[in-house]
Amino acid sequence: NDLYAVVGHPISHSKSPRIHSLFAQQTGEALEYTAIQAPLDDFAGTVTEFFDRGGKGLNVTVPFKEQAWQLAAQRTARAEKAGAANTLYRDDQGRLTADNTDGCGLVRDLTVNHGVGLAGARILVLGAGGAVRGVLEPLLAERPASVTIANRTLAKAETLVQLFAPEAAGVALSACGFTEPDQPFDVIINGTSASLQGDLPPLSPAVIGIDTVVYDMMYALQTTTFNQWALDQGARHVHDGLGMLVEQAAESFRVWRGVRPRSEPVIEVLRND
Ligand code: ATR
Repeated sequence: NDLYAVVGHPISHSKSPRIHSLFAQQTGEALEYTAIQAPLDDFAGTVTEFFDRGGKGLNVTVPFKEQAWQLAAQRTARAEKAGAANTLYRDDQGRLTADNTDGCGLVRDLTVNHGVGLAGARILVLGAGGAVRGVLEPLLAERPASVTIANRTLAKAETLVQLFAPEAAGVALSACGFTEPDQPFDVIINGTSASLQGDLPPLSPAVIGIDTVVYDMMYALQTTTFNQWALDQGARHVHDGLGMLVEQAAESFRVWRGVRPRSEPVIEVLRND
């Protein structure tokens, strides 16, 4: 069996082994997928060792995505712009190649699984860290009317606006602080890590309209802090990041194996785990 793994620190709670095993079962691909905890000071050694013993592909998670991007000898176009990689493999000449399937996963979950139209939409993105940078290009490629990046540290949102200006032709891309927006958006995507500290970005309730689609890139067993806030403001369409998690995995699987697994049955299984 071909060997794959997810590398992170910590890694014991990762759902990737479960997701990829379900994909393998579903598609009949003969592969094994494990979880590896890399030491915080030796991600590179862990990656090299894995591929040297014949490993075919790695997923990379917190806190190593930027290092994975650095380490690779080459990057796909979407990984290049993302500044981080969640997918590694060796190409046919043995070069370590970095890809990033997170943005594709987010867009597929929104558009395919939740039926959200992004073309022409007014989108509010919360956060300006690695998670947001990783998804901006695929979001902009959907041709929304506008993407407003709101962040605690305004300068970081402004930097992203500059960085993604070339991808934003025809899209009104702008930066602001959390308290500034005061009109309803079509789609609000939370890409901050605020809820990890049980915090909420101090948004005006006016950003939530009756038809606003709220998407938290985080996933937890209970409703996330951010989604609960949105529900309390009257939002009716609230989604967490479980679908994105499965979709980014499906895209990595496709990159490695040339076969795209169906994600809905796997989302269903995980939801009931
Ligand atoms: P990630 O890889 O999850 O994106 P990151 O690059 O450290 O991690 O970015 C975290 C994001 O969450 C940033 O936008 C951060 O805001 P700052 O740029 O101002 O640091 C945001 N964030 C983290 N904790 C937050 C909190 N308690 N309230 C609001 N925003 C927060």
